[in-house]
Amino acid sequence: MKKDNAYFDNASTSWPKPEAVYLFIDQFQRHHAVNPSRGGYAMAIETEAMVIQTRQLLATFFGFSGPANRVLFTANITDSLNMALGGTLKTGDHVITTRLEHNAVLRTTAYLERDRKVSTTYLPADAGTGVVSADAIKAAIEPHTAAIVLSHASNVTGRVQPLCDIGQLAREHKIPLIVDSAQTAGVLPINMHSDGISILTFTGHKGLFGPMGIGGLIVDKSTDLTVTKFGGNGILSEARYQPDSWPHRHEVGTLAVPAIAGLHAAQRWFNTLGENLASPYGLTSAQDARTLAVALNEESIGHPLDLNQHAIRSADAVKHIHRTEMEHLRIIQQVLAEFDHVRVLGGTKNQDTENQVATLSFVSDQVSTERIASALDADFHVCSRAGLHCAPLVHTDERTLETQGAVRLAPGLFTDKQDMAQLLEGLRDVLSV
Ligand SMILES: Cc1ncc(COP(=O)(O)O)c(C=O)c1O
Repeated sequence: MKKDNAYFDNASTSWPKPEAVYLFIDQFQRHHAVNPSRGGYAMAIETEAMVIQTRQLLATFFGFSGPANRVLFTANITDSLNMALGGTLKTGDHVITTRLEHNAVLRTTAYLERDRKVSTTYLPADAGTGVVSADAIKAAIEPHTAAIVLSHASNVTGRVQPLCDIGQLAREHKIPLIVDSAQTAGVLPINMHSDGISILTFTGHKGLFGPMGIGGLIVDKSTDLTVTKFGGNGILSEARYQPDSWPHRHEVGTLAVPAIAGLHAAQRWFNTLGENLASPYGLTSAQDARTLAVALNEESIGHPLDLNQHAIRSADAVKHIHRTEMEHLRIIQQVLAEFDHVRVLGGTKNQDTENQVATLSFVSDQVSTERIASALDADFHVCSRAGLHCAPLVHTDERTLETQGAVRLAPGLFTDKQDMAQLLEGLRDVLSV
């Protein structure tokens, strides 16, 4: 039966979420969503325990061996990047970034250029590979370069940057590396230590399968971060300025506890997905993965976590997710290749699946971007995303400003045969001119 929403906008936000996420948010919100770290009563202490465990789960998930209080919660990755860049760059500093970035980086550097006289180098992606090499970054280093900031994968082309090489370079030159993991967290392995990341920024609502309204940053122990937000958090209220202790130095105001609960459940779901992959029965469908029962209830909160197990199982889950999503992407690539008038963005050699997440954008010489997306929606109930995707410089370089941007397709783990059938039928229909 035709679906009302064949969803291919997972690069914007993942949908649907695992059942455990919906269930646990509801349960936790009803019984525990009180202010953590303010009250001394049981409900507040248990809420705080859930928040602390979520920091531990995320630290483990991202290969961070420092203290979990260096995992800071924010509203989203835009907020995190504002804090990371605003808290790192000082007047007169130089920063290296790429022309692949989202406005979360581009607008932040624009303000820092204007208000702090920061200078920025925006490196273009290689026309062949669609990525920025470590060598290109090396050549851009200046004596006062104070940070390198880049997205791990482009939200337009899905091309994955050579993070490990860049991390090694940053380490050799003692320059902090700030990574925007919006398109890769939960989809590709990220290890702060081996990837040489000083500040990892993340958003909860995409590949991490949490709800909207929660993001964060993890700040390596050797990286300093100037305070950029001010206010209360229930700690040392008598002090005029922010307390020195983490996370209170940087987290101000009431936390998004229901959203943190959702992210917590999503982390536990990664663990359970990894466990089920190892079982002889395995998973047979996207639906199975979505409805996996997570051993999570309010009584389990505060019980010690097996973080080693979380590291192993969630890494298996991440591998499985990337593999599954790429199977969908490959089919979409093949169908688009049937049309000579279609161009997929992201470099001329962009068919390798190693350095790619399951996102692609395309344009046609014959059919307008707007027409493709609206026909997919109106006639086939396919949710795609047309436009500039908040990444204007990619579209400048791809010469797609004049086509009103491109059509972006991003299948997800829960994409099923029916979603794909609607999409492929829709693409063949609208592109057959
Ligand atoms: C690469 C990249 N960075 C930043 C963002 C901003 O994410 P959020 O809206 O969660 O702050 C996005 C979202 O589209 C993105 O793809």
